[in-house]
Amino acid sequence: MIRSQRQTGILAGWMKAADIHKVILQLSPSVSRLAVLCDENTHHCCFHKVSSQPVFRDGEFSNIIIPPGEGSKSMKQCMRISRELLEAGIDRHGMVINLGGGVVTDLGGFVSGIYKRGIRFLHVPTSLTGMIDASIGGKTGINAEGLKNQLGLFAFPVKTIIDPSFLCTLPDREIRAGTAEIIKHSVLSANPGILKTLSGLELTGNSMGKQKEDWMNVIAHSIKFKEAIVSSDPFDLHKRKVLNLGHTLGHAIEAWSMENGVQPLRHGEAVSAGLIMELYLSHRKTGFSKEFLDGVVRFIIEKIGWFPVPGHLEPLKKYLAHDKKSTGQGIRFVLADERGHGLIDQLAEEILVLECLNFYRSLS
Ligand code: GLY
Repeated sequence: MIRSQRQTGILAGWMKAADIHKVILQLSPSVSRLAVLCDENTHHCCFHKVSSQPVFRDGEFSNIIIPPGEGSKSMKQCMRISRELLEAGIDRHGMVINLGGGVVTDLGGFVSGIYKRGIRFLHVPTSLTGMIDASIGGKTGINAEGLKNQLGLFAFPVKTIIDPSFLCTLPDREIRAGTAEIIKHSVLSANPGILKTLSGLELTGNSMGKQKEDWMNVIAHSIKFKEAIVSSDPFDLHKRKVLNLGHTLGHAIEAWSMENGVQPLRHGEAVSAGLIMELYLSHRKTGFSKEFLDGVVRFIIEKIGWFPVPGHLEPLKKYLAHDKKSTGQGIRFVLADERGHGLIDQLAEEILVLECLNFYRSLS
């Protein structure tokens, strides 16, 4: 199969938002009109850095602003953005710039992927999760029926532009949550050194300036690791599935927290709980190192936090049943082996999954 650059499009560039006009100039005159998609927060904190670029100075672009938060990954916002693109006269040669965290890049990538059968888009992630995970690898989508990412498609950006200075604008909670995916990448790359570097970092927006070099190292490691996995399996058919470590229970807990009146968890917070449980399961089933498990548990509980999870499996079952990894015989997980290599399609009986929940609850 021949894939165009755009299908597998590679991927993250270590650039600054200030370079955005260079990318657009490279593409022009083939880009007819631009739209910038933001949420209310990124419109307030980040938009000026993009809109002040020469290519935007004549005001010939549209700005679409959505409410912040996971609730915006909806069909309602999808239709609204499409309407605004139509009203703005964005044709098949137009381009969307998705300026925001994972919600903006997932939603903006999805709309761009289906609008007029697909128009070009750039990702400019502004959150830690966005930079090291959501904006890399072409997964786009929205939630449906209370379930995460049920409607979506693979659609690859022309480029992902990483400007770490955006991280200084983030609330500390966002930095803590984003760190969960970095830990996942460090486990799967069998690199305890990243965890060690992370342990010396303050997980705050402020620390991005003070501890810049170490932050750049862990972010670069994470991006490189994810790019390598994605380029070997862009469409998630085999190897890429390892990136779901921590996400079987993580997604279920995230969806449960959104529907059940406890404080809704950030994606990374739910993944931090899912990682502890699924690494505990790995330790029980594959011999994943107890020392590495203890290090991850200590780091997550002290630096990211502990979050409420149900005391039994029942409330999570409806979310697990929709998980692509579940079957009639048990629940399918990605586990890490004793060297940290990801093992896909590992079945675990319910009793063992309950033990994982109880292990996590014992850490409160
Ligand atoms: N976040 C999992 C993936 O991109 O495959």
